[in-house]
Amino acid sequence: MANVHVLDHPLIQHKLAILRNKNTSVKEFRELISEISGLMCYEATRNLATQEVDVETPVATAKCRMLAGKKLAIVPILRAGLGMVDSMVDLIPSAKIGHIGLYRDPATHKPVEYYCKLPDDIANRQVYVVDPMLATGGSAIAAIDFLKEHGCRNIIMMNVIGCPEGVKAMQEAHPDVEMYLAAVDEKLNENAYIVPGLGDAGDRIFGTK
Ligand code: PRP
Ligand code: URA
Repeated sequence: MANVHVLDHPLIQHKLAILRNKNTSVKEFRELISEISGLMCYEATRNLATQEVDVETPVATAKCRMLAGKKLAIVPILRAGLGMVDSMVDLIPSAKIGHIGLYRDPATHKPVEYYCKLPDDIANRQVYVVDPMLATGGSAIAAIDFLKEHGCRNIIMMNVIGCPEGVKAMQEAHPDVEMYLAAVDEKLNENAYIVPGLGDAGDRIFGTK
């Protein structure tokens, strides 16, 4: 799977094991989602362009590298994607942030849009779409459809946990989008929940159940 990167870094895998545990508290779940997102961001930004710059140290001139190329935007899919934003902004403080609000209809499992607000210059940015869960793929596909309608052409998707069904759907709908995940689980169950997964990410981040 050329455009799918599963991040098997030991720190990510260790934190993911605690995240999945049904006894992990809301506080700890929130902290772990944020920590994992920061570590995933480090990997998902590995190919950003840099340019050489001269920096005057107190001793001499150092040849250094700084980010060049497109500016970045982070687009969480509400609600659960919000849990991934802060640690990414800590690493990329100049990134702009857009919001796409989608929820899955409990009967059809199809995404329903309820809010969208994007930076004016989103089309010119390298966009990171973030959401902890990639289940049927419907929400990710709808969010990326929307971004492409707004002119975005450079999009990277970051999910903490996915499954084969969601990955396949994404690859068919958006083969140009690089995907970064911490795990691709076994399957979806009859309610379109990821097995073994971690349950409902939004509820576990916000303590709503
Ligand atoms: C969850 C999750 C994804 C979506 C994944 O959100 O955060 O957005 O489901 O499922 P899919 O791949 O089948 O579309 P949910 O709709 O539960 O909303 P929430 O974030 O507000 O809890
Ligand atoms: N949304 C979640 O939060 N968890 C799943 O397993 C599937 C969709």
